Amino acid sequence: MIGHNRDPVPPASKIPRMAGSLRQRRGRGRVPREPDRSHFPDSSHSRSQGRPQDRLATVSPPSPPRPSPDPFRYAAGTPPRPRAVRAAPPPHRRDTPRMGLLMRILVTGGAGFIGSQFVRALLSEELPSGRDARVTVLDNLTYSGNEANLAPVADLPGYTFVRGDIRDPGTVDEAVRGQDAVVHFAAESHVDRSILDSAPFVTTNVLGTQTLLDAARRHGVGRFVHVSTDEVYGSIAEGSWTEDWPLAPNSPYSASKAGSDLLALSYHRTHGMDVVVTRCSNNYGQYHFPEKMIPLFTTNLLDGKKVPLYGEGLNVRDWLHVSDHCRGIELVLRDGRAGEIYHIGGGTEVTNKELTGLLLDACGAGWDMVEHVEDRKGHDLRYSLSIGKIQEELGYAPRVSFAAGLADTVQWYRDNRAWWEPLKAKAALA
Ligand SMILES: NC(=O)c1ccc[n+]([C@@H]2O[C@H](COP(=O)([O-])OP(=O)(O)OC[C@H]3O[C@@H](n4cnc5c(N)ncnc54)[C@H](O)[C@@H]3O)[C@@H](O)[C@H]2O)c1
Repeated sequence: MIGHNRDPVPPASKIPRMAGSLRQRRGRGRVPREPDRSHFPDSSHSRSQGRPQDRLATVSPPSPPRPSPDPFRYAAGTPPRPRAVRAAPPPHRRDTPRMGLLMRILVTGGAGFIGSQFVRALLSEELPSGRDARVTVLDNLTYSGNEANLAPVADLPGYTFVRGDIRDPGTVDEAVRGQDAVVHFAAESHVDRSILDSAPFVTTNVLGTQTLLDAARRHGVGRFVHVSTDEVYGSIAEGSWTEDWPLAPNSPYSASKAGSDLLALSYHRTHGMDVVVTRCSNNYGQYHFPEKMIPLFTTNLLDGKKVPLYGEGLNVRDWLHVSDHCRGIELVLRDGRAGEIYHIGGGTEVTNKELTGLLLDACGAGWDMVEHVEDRKGHDLRYSLSIGKIQEELGYAPRVSFAAGLADTVQWYRDNRAWWEPLKAKAALA
């Protein structure tokens, strides 16, 4: 049963504000087809050998030869299967109401970190598909879901919040009926929690996705965007993954996401559904639940507490500002090809130790505030995505430099204690 959640939102004074008002942030023009590098002080994009804070926009070294031409090939030795025939134009281009017309979009997990950014950006028309769109959020508000993340748009016309579980077929059926598109963010998303208990990861990430896909198929939804992660590929010592790389997930979280990716793609192959999968690197930005590295370290340091660094801190991650991620998803929603996978990356690789140094500097703390803790089990050493496909096909390029994005993010946590203090207590109990 769907429960329309009408809980009062916190008083306006307690609600974090986005930079600039919604109206100021309206952007009615099309996203430029040419990659916009104007926000990158380093226009060469070559990897700097200097301090991590100097690496404002780095690119990955060239990829080694592809090990498999087929995204469905799971392990070496599996016989290749034929690729999906690319029909042109994709169905959504004919059938789905286009930008500028009324479009009904269901956003699952829209009260979480990335989903809420997507909804705020849609309804503020920062993303073109938001123009005249009706956006319904379906979210059951787990420990990481927070309706306050949507407070800046809660009173805008065209917004509906539905509290419900994507594993419940009745709820999902009702929420999906009448939608033109589904953008599916809802997931259990924290690797450490999946190591402690993988059951909710399998039920939400795999069964929940299947429940949504079945409902979308039943109701003839025009487009289904499944949001996934680079972690499905495992770890890569050098070079960068392309979209046809074999999957080799190492944690229960990434294994459950890999399962959901394959299910989503199978609905395209088997049923001809208009499904597109995105895989992104590590996101950062405002409204990030304070259990993940950047908000955890920042809020600990702001409270004068130590930060726990896994092992020697040599794990490398590519950081992507959440607004760039959502811009990439919206490009895929509008113009991605059905049955395809698109990578969305930030282009800045740093080790966890380098990132720790940047956060210590930003918070005015020293290395005495760092506590080395036992490494995470099965910890992937390095993630790196090639983003050539989305750049060439859809004109995507990250716009927020890591230095500017990180400084903004730390400042946001300084300014919004009322948002994160209760969540830290909740995280400890969950
Ligand atoms: N955060 C990252 O760096 C990152 C990187 C790559 C991919 N992703 C993917 O992006 C998506 C969003 O990630 P996030 O960081 O915003 O996660 P999050 O944990 O902040 O948000 C997840 C949201 O899903 C909701 N949810 C969970 N289970 C649900 C269920 N059974 N029914 C309905 N709603 C449910 C939660 O309440 C929450 O609002 C996930 O699919 C994740 O795998 C995230």
